[in-house]
Amino acid sequence: MPWWPCFVSILAGFLAYYISQAQSRVKLHATSNEEKAGQQAQMGSEDVMFWSAIFLERLCINSDNEHYLTSTQSSLPRDPATLSCGSDNRHNEVLMSSSGRQFSQYFVMADIHGDLEQAILALSMMGVTDQSGHWTAGPAVLVQLGDLVDRGNNSLGVLELFHTLAVEARAVGGKVVTLLGNHEYMLMQGDFRYVNRDEIIRLGRKHQEAQGGAVDVSGRQQDEQRAAFAAGLKLWHQLMSSTGRYGSLIRSRPVAHLLYTEDLLGKPVVEHDHQEGAKHECSMLLVHAGVTQGLVDAVDHLHSIASVTSEKLRAAEEQDSLSNKVELHAPLYVAAWNTAVSRGLSNCSIRACPSPYAQGASLAAAVLGGEGLIWSRDLSQPTNGQDWACREVREVLSRINKGSGPSRKVSRIVLGHTVQGRGHVSVRCGGRLILADVGMSGWIKGGGPAGLSCTLQSGLQLLTESGAESARLKVEDK
Ligand SMILES: *[C@@H]1O[C@H](CO)[C@@H](O)[C@H](O)[C@H]1NC(C)=O
Ligand SMILES: *[C@@H]1O[C@H](CO)[C@@H](O)[C@H](O)[C@H]1NC(C)=O
Repeated sequence: MPWWPCFVSILAGFLAYYISQAQSRVKLHATSNEEKAGQQAQMGSEDVMFWSAIFLERLCINSDNEHYLTSTQSSLPRDPATLSCGSDNRHNEVLMSSSGRQFSQYFVMADIHGDLEQAILALSMMGVTDQSGHWTAGPAVLVQLGDLVDRGNNSLGVLELFHTLAVEARAVGGKVVTLLGNHEYMLMQGDFRYVNRDEIIRLGRKHQEAQGGAVDVSGRQQDEQRAAFAAGLKLWHQLMSSTGRYGSLIRSRPVAHLLYTEDLLGKPVVEHDHQEGAKHECSMLLVHAGVTQGLVDAVDHLHSIASVTSEKLRAAEEQDSLSNKVELHAPLYVAAWNTAVSRGLSNCSIRACPSPYAQGASLAAAVLGGEGLIWSRDLSQPTNGQDWACREVREVLSRINKGSGPSRKVSRIVLGHTVQGRGHVSVRCGGRLILADVGMSGWIKGGGPAGLSCTLQSGLQLLTESGAESARLKVEDK
């Protein structure tokens, strides 16, 4: 045997090792540089056109009173019929004022993780539904912070519950917003590590029965289970694909949502109006895991590239800066994150989800990456300490509030994702950071049913089986 094949294979081995090391260095570099998330938002020329057009048109409001970025020149994957922008030019008006719709109350619920029974218990305890899980809250808004799925034995049941609730709420002037959690994202990527095995087997059995009885495996229970699991897994893949029933549902989730006190009041909140005790208590930014300045940078970065590249945009902004109209502000940041993700996820499947390491990685990749809105623990478990996290919260709030009118100031950030000790909601940074995940799924075994409510009369309240708590949750002045 000649000596050289051996030499070549050793050389190839070294080369492969070297390349993999180089790749992991690139990744490490990318993740340790969190404040550079903005620079991950590199744009191709098609993207430049899209975002310039978007920043030019600014903000639109659809028939559901959600803020979206849109433009007449590029079509979004969302149904264009739901976008009213362009025809009635409401976009610049809505920046500074109320959406014109009045809600009675806000509810917030954190991670549920496949526990249908506990979800209904919590919702009925809060007064959102009756005991069989039907909407009874009238024109209220319920925001669920993501992670409906995984771990528990009824992820599909919980997805169905929230889908039905959204329909029921809408019929009476209410609204249900279900945010994207990292576990929904994992399902679209085909990462089923946390899916409950019993649920898959149940799904497989149901399918086999519908196909005319269980497969005969000569009475061996283990084989029967294995066959049911295989059938269930195949179905699960289909259901979670971009055209599957649940896959299309979770791909349309927003990653962030804003609630405003003003929309409870039905009129602008007047600064220094002491009669409105709960002035800005109910104005909050909600995301699944965390939001740091890197994500604000990412939008600023897109915006600056777009204004450098597009003469039309630059001209419009110069005009606007004279009339003092332009400043990026909370709804625009949120709309940019949501729009980017909605574009990025529309075709997301096992391999094609936006990767933060891909060349020309988009804003979607920054939002969905390890330091982004659905994964980050930078605020909930800050490695640099609580002071750092509180400074970050203050900075993020002040930056997204900068361009907002006085009655559209966001006063806090509300997060799920990180389970808080002994089932207690954590209130940090003088009420400006609320960590709402009490781990109420029976498969996590943290706390009992719990949720938040916000009204003009009571401000933000924590609702648990032992009653309502509000003093601890107040936003401290200064
Ligand atoms: C899921 O588990 C709970 C608790 O063990 C049980 O009560 C419930 O019946 C199970 N659900 C289904 C659909 O099997
Ligand atoms: C998604 O896929 C469809 C068909 O494969 C394609 O027409 C469309 O442009 C894709 N959308 C995006 C945002 O890449």
